Amino acid sequence: MKILVVGSGGREHALAWALHRNGANQILVSSGNPGTAEFATNTTGDPVEIALKESVDLVVVGPEVPLVNGIADVLEEKGIPCFGPSAQCARLEGSKWFAKEIMAEAGVPTATGKVFTDHASAVDYIGEYPDKFVIKADGLAAGKGVYLPNTRKESDAIIEELFRNGSGTVVVEQRLSGREVSVLAVCNGTDAVVLPPSRDHKRVYDGDMGPNTGGMGAVCPPPDIPFDFGDDVLEKVILPVLRVMKARGTEYRGVLYAGLMITEYGYFVLEFNVRFGDPETQAVLPLVKSSLDQLFLAAARGKKLPPVEISDGASACVILASGGYPGSYSKGKEITGIDKVDSLVFQAGTTERNGSLYTAGGRVLGVTALGEDLDEALENAYRDAELIEFEGKHMRRDIGRTV
Ligand code: AMP
Ligand code: GLY
Repeated sequence: MKILVVGSGGREHALAWALHRNGANQILVSSGNPGTAEFATNTTGDPVEIALKESVDLVVVGPEVPLVNGIADVLEEKGIPCFGPSAQCARLEGSKWFAKEIMAEAGVPTATGKVFTDHASAVDYIGEYPDKFVIKADGLAAGKGVYLPNTRKESDAIIEELFRNGSGTVVVEQRLSGREVSVLAVCNGTDAVVLPPSRDHKRVYDGDMGPNTGGMGAVCPPPDIPFDFGDDVLEKVILPVLRVMKARGTEYRGVLYAGLMITEYGYFVLEFNVRFGDPETQAVLPLVKSSLDQLFLAAARGKKLPPVEISDGASACVILASGGYPGSYSKGKEITGIDKVDSLVFQAGTTERNGSLYTAGGRVLGVTALGEDLDEALENAYRDAELIEFEGKHMRRDIGRTV
């Protein structure tokens, strides 16, 4: 098959790698990175035009923005199968409140929430209990739209800032506490298969300290999650959402990512994403033994999904970031040592010049290793993460060790 992967980060490198792995597919990437260029064709320009010009058999969309903007709808009109949901379905990520409405209709467990369109009512609702609530910007916020205030001063300032930024709609929900886990489901509109559960680590420093990032590492499966957890999430979360979306006239085809929190009262959905997680994908896909091309194509076409075979053991991905990220950081530092490692190295913020590789972003590389168990996977990943060097390299040392 000829497959176009849309995106240019570590997640897309992992997707392109997994789709290329069995050797039968020709992979194009829009726009890709130096890592994908090693085995695929990086392209520039509008992905829909590339898909048409190259007569691809399938488009696999990595990031949420093109999905929310309707790339799947445009491709469908042109008759090109797209693994990624329609704009209407992508609202599950594009609007926190829409997701809440769908969850209520589908009977999916989630934190109690309320939507506000004016500043005063939101401030009034939170009142003297800011630490009991979470404040969320309704729209896409590139992972930066969720706030956990501790004081009234903080919550007032957050709400004011959100409305001043033109957010227009703010969701306030009950704050839960517990362990987090991500479940990725490949959906064909009516049915789904779940991939093994994973966990990412969003804070920049060890012990879950410091600001949130796009993700500093991920493990699959998390050691404290029961083996059949995904089956339960399939029944209680994924399939009910697919039924509601279908009843609303639009079938969900693509990955549905449920971000869950396991509390003492059971698990609750914190968020949906309408795409693969980054860096969860870099940890999950290396454990999937079956070929993903047929799975994604079947999902895109609304056909019966082939079974998915998963390797035994575990996987760990450690992100190497530029010092200072997620704040300001410098770029253009030479990266050395990738040739010394056995792990999979997925590139994210890199650029190539005269045959050498340089840093070009906050999250630079994801080092993924497998093992018979998580300890072994982590040992392998950290050994290799140490061998790769660039000035200012930062990584967390406790991936897979905290929840
Ligand atoms: P989201 O972008 O919705 O995944 O939220 C980002 C992070 O905020 C999650 O991974 C949680 O750590 C936290 N979060 C979101 N919703 C809640 C909630 N209701 N209670 C506690 N933490 C939350
Ligand atoms: N790793 C979290 C996300 O992709 O949204």
